[in-house]
Amino acid sequence: MQIRIIGTGSYVPEKALDNQALERMVDTSDAWIRERTGIGSRRITQTGTTDMAIRAARRAMEMAGLSPEELDLIVVGTSTGDCLFPNTACEVQAALGAKEAACFDLSAACSGFLFSLNTACVYLESGVYRTALVIGTDSLSKTVDWSDRGTCILFGDGAGAAVLKKEESVSRVGPFLMKADGNRGEVLRCMGTPLRNPFIKEETDAKESVMGETGEQKSEENETDFGYLSMNGQEVFRFAVKTVPEVLEELLWRAGVSAEEIQYFVLHQANERIIGSVAKRMKQPLSKFPMNLEHYGNTSGASIPILLDELNREGRLRKGDKLALAGFGAGLTWGATFLVW
Ligand code: ACO
Repeated sequence: MQIRIIGTGSYVPEKALDNQALERMVDTSDAWIRERTGIGSRRITQTGTTDMAIRAARRAMEMAGLSPEELDLIVVGTSTGDCLFPNTACEVQAALGAKEAACFDLSAACSGFLFSLNTACVYLESGVYRTALVIGTDSLSKTVDWSDRGTCILFGDGAGAAVLKKEESVSRVGPFLMKADGNRGEVLRCMGTPLRNPFIKEETDAKESVMGETGEQKSEENETDFGYLSMNGQEVFRFAVKTVPEVLEELLWRAGVSAEEIQYFVLHQANERIIGSVAKRMKQPLSKFPMNLEHYGNTSGASIPILLDELNREGRLRKGDKLALAGFGAGLTWGATFLVW
């Protein structure tokens, strides 16, 4: 018995924000963005993270030919859920009518889909469940400061999904790797809801009354920008070009295959230069590294499943093709998965 992907689906919002539109919003240019990132446009949601997840999931379920009641597990990789609770997976479950499915979200930023896929595979491999729906969905548009040209040019919204089933097959998912370095969290961070409780209020009141007595201005120095993404772009770049080839090499070694045998390396779509550098370090032609970031930007946890779905629907994946997936993102987190289609 092997784990197989029996359906894929994706969804990107209709509203496109191209580089020319960004030129009118911040001090940037189409040439600068294209040269540094390869991005030409990105899609921006008006309906939110859950809605995109549901649309991608419906498409994947339709391709899989599975009834919602047959789903045992739904794992959603997202770091931009619409609610703190219930989780996005529960909302997808309700929308699909997948009454039997266990549901949870997994937060690993741009590695979210990959970590969710790997986690679902472990449940299937161990025999706990037989079927799973795995989704990557993100609306980074709500976390970027639209006046910060250093970050707002990079991201777009979208969702992708895959349906997994354990069955007799030559296809398989795995081995897989998941890595993290929590010491480097500052490189890419987005703070959530601030603490609000009676003790915090007491402290704030006391501080304000002291400030009032001394006539001090309220200091903004140590205030955290809740809800906004902050990033050290060059550090992220260095992290990605070092760890992605390393994790891919380890994956290939564990799978017992050579880089030459891989049909496609399906990488997180953050930046064309990062992907180019990985191809070079892997000594593989760039044509083996499909990209769609020109149209969608960096869709975070959704980028790998959107690309996988596009390859699948374009008929570019043949039975028996070997694929290597690799993701990386905030945390810092990174990982890789081997697939035989
Ligand atoms: N348009 C024009 N100029 C800009 C822009 C912009 N959008 N953004 C920054 N600049 C300017 C800077 O202000 C700076 O000007 P200065 O020299 O006068 O100070 C100059 O361009 C160079 O800035 P850098 O930050 O050094 O530019 P860099 O070459 O590093 O490119 C970038 C920035 C594209 C973000 C790059 O660092 C990168 O791709 N890093 C990877 C980050 C990434 O992909 N993050 C995605 C999220 S993480 C993930 O998905 C894993």
